[in-house]
Amino acid sequence: MDTKVLYPSSPDCVSEAAAVIRSGGLLAIPTETVYGLGASALDEDAVKRIFEVKGRAQDNPLIIHVSSKKDVPKYCRDVPQRAYDLMDRFWPGPLTIVLYKKDIIPDRVSAGLDTVAVRCPETEITRKIIEAAGVPIAAPSANLSGKPSTTTAQHVLHDIGGRIEAVVDGGCCRVGVESTIVDLTVSPARLLRPGGVTPEQLESALGALSIDPAVERALRADERPKAPGMKYRHYSPEAKVIIVRGESENAARYINANTDDSTAVLCYDEEKELFTAPCVLTYGREGHDEELAGNLFSSLRELDREGISKIYARCPEQGGVAFAVRNRLQKAAGYNIISV
Ligand code: TXA
Ligand code: MG
Repeated sequence: MDTKVLYPSSPDCVSEAAAVIRSGGLLAIPTETVYGLGASALDEDAVKRIFEVKGRAQDNPLIIHVSSKKDVPKYCRDVPQRAYDLMDRFWPGPLTIVLYKKDIIPDRVSAGLDTVAVRCPETEITRKIIEAAGVPIAAPSANLSGKPSTTTAQHVLHDIGGRIEAVVDGGCCRVGVESTIVDLTVSPARLLRPGGVTPEQLESALGALSIDPAVERALRADERPKAPGMKYRHYSPEAKVIIVRGESENAARYINANTDDSTAVLCYDEEKELFTAPCVLTYGREGHDEELAGNLFSSLRELDREGISKIYARCPEQGGVAFAVRNRLQKAAGYNIISV
């Protein structure tokens, strides 16, 4: 099939995009985090196609996207006051909230769980499309499963072009890593995935926050993550990714001693000249975590090419948005971390 590219500047964009959703089609949507592979969350057959196109495991539930917090009680039950507190403060924006689901949400969306993850994206065109479609849009990140998420319409077309009805080209995603996920069906609230809304911000809004073990380390075989997606290998190019921690000069000494023709380095702008590898790519200035988040996935995609079998990556150590960057890089590296 031909995948149509819709542009927000076109007067028909919202109506055409909403028609794709209403007719059970697949529509890639821009959000402030990453692009989503969307379908009507109330249409089981359309949702089934999302899993097929992505090659996604059936036990990995989807996030539903709503155009306003007013829609949440239509799809979720027993919504606590602290959920409204978070929505007031962070929506629309990069925060997904896990709540108990109502029966109207098909089991295929929630992968059989009695909870559903909900978010209201910041990107205005996407909220307009959801509103015009009249249904919530279920959307995982619009990448092939296991690959880095997509932050441009070109990435989406590269991964799944020809297999979906349309993509809305909203340009580059502002945040660049997926939304923060917080589970409000437990007490204290639990952070399941770090993102653009930081743990510090959540803690100040909620008072208490626990951090799911799957966020910071590989789980043991007998442990089950609360967010099923956290157990899969993720965000990975074909090459082996290795994180090198420590001062720039020490990292350069170690990496340069272990460099061959197939080595690439992903580092901070300031470090570029230190490395002798044939491919050195920078993804932002050290300490500028928003910049690093914004460029992370496109950089990993750029390094996913023939001839590169090993990528040494420099990774921020701080809290805030750096926490999300570190989480994604650690998963891409399968927790392969060297301290120098
Ligand atoms: O920023 C985002 O969240 C993007 C954009 C498109 O909105 N979406 C996204 O979706 O990252 P996806 O499918 O790539 O990641 C969703 C994560 C998975 O790890 C999944 O297991 C978890 O959310 N999840 C979904 N529903 C859940 C639930 N009811 N309880 C716990 N975790 C859930
Ligand atoms: Mg994903």
